Amino acid sequence: MKPTLEAFLKDVLDGLSARPRTLPCKYLYDAKGSALFEEICQTEDYYVTRADLALHESHIGEFSAIVGPGAHIIEFGSGAGIKTRKLLAGLEQPRAYTPIEISVAALAESARELETAFPEIEICPLRADYTRPIDAESLRLEPPASRRVVYFPGSTISNFEHDEARAFLERMRFIAGPDGGILIGVDLLKPADRLLRAYDDAEGVTARFNLNLLERLANELGAELESDSFVHEARFNTDFNRIEMHLVARRPTRISLGGQHFDFAAGDSIHTENSHKYSVRDFRELAATAGLESLRVWKDPQGLFSMHWLQSSQPQGAGGASTGVLRSKST
Ligand code: AVJ
Repeated sequence: MKPTLEAFLKDVLDGLSARPRTLPCKYLYDAKGSALFEEICQTEDYYVTRADLALHESHIGEFSAIVGPGAHIIEFGSGAGIKTRKLLAGLEQPRAYTPIEISVAALAESARELETAFPEIEICPLRADYTRPIDAESLRLEPPASRRVVYFPGSTISNFEHDEARAFLERMRFIAGPDGGILIGVDLLKPADRLLRAYDDAEGVTARFNLNLLERLANELGAELESDSFVHEARFNTDFNRIEMHLVARRPTRISLGGQHFDFAAGDSIHTENSHKYSVRDFRELAATAGLESLRVWKDPQGLFSMHWLQSSQPQGAGGASTGVLRSKST
């Protein structure tokens, strides 16, 4: 078995054995899942992508003023989206742009397109899993940029639980260094009915996106299951201010996989994804626990989505990661 398939199997066996039952959300985003996610972004009910784009359109001049000229923009993600183009076109002579992405194909394609669109900007793609520590040495430029700016739009941070989000923000702070900054998109907390609609859209695309995970279990791992025994459900968890996606058994059913059987009573669920929502204050507080100060916040015209500008709140030259000396061995 290929190592990636072996890891997938192990994660599924662990997740279905755990209580509550869970599956890691990264497995939602295979080729078909990623295409379905793009389709979700076009639905009437999923406001997130449109609001994020509207925010970029209204405030790009202010982003540019705060970032300043000659910056090295480092995106956590492939940079294939329209927002990246808006940002690069709107900033003052960016020195370089680095997309960080695990998929070689996605990285190569976006790098090629951006090189054509922005011949005057040095495009330095980095193949890596941005959820793990990044080798800072690979981000070094000669001559160096005026500063580093980590760009993370789209509210992908919503997938992380608070402890993971804090650790992730700390790594961003380390990469940006004391003079750098972080431009991060965060979906705002809002009434549950609006959120539930966004994650259970009337066109049923989110349901197909979630159910695709069961198809992957059957097709790639050879699981025996009755996919029509499960339905997609979005829940709002008020303890954590997060939307949860679940696959809920609507009758007693069984998933057989790797010689093991997993039985479900009607109503039992598999928790497949989290989307944490933050007020401006909640996110400021989270950032503060990661040594970051939120110095500016922008919202889209409808007030649905936010973008924070974060900078290290540790005094310069205080030692460790905050000296701006990036050591390849220190992560
Ligand atoms: C990719 C994490 C931003 O949480 O809104 C959307 C994922 N899942 N609909 C989100 C998602 C179902 C999305 N993020």
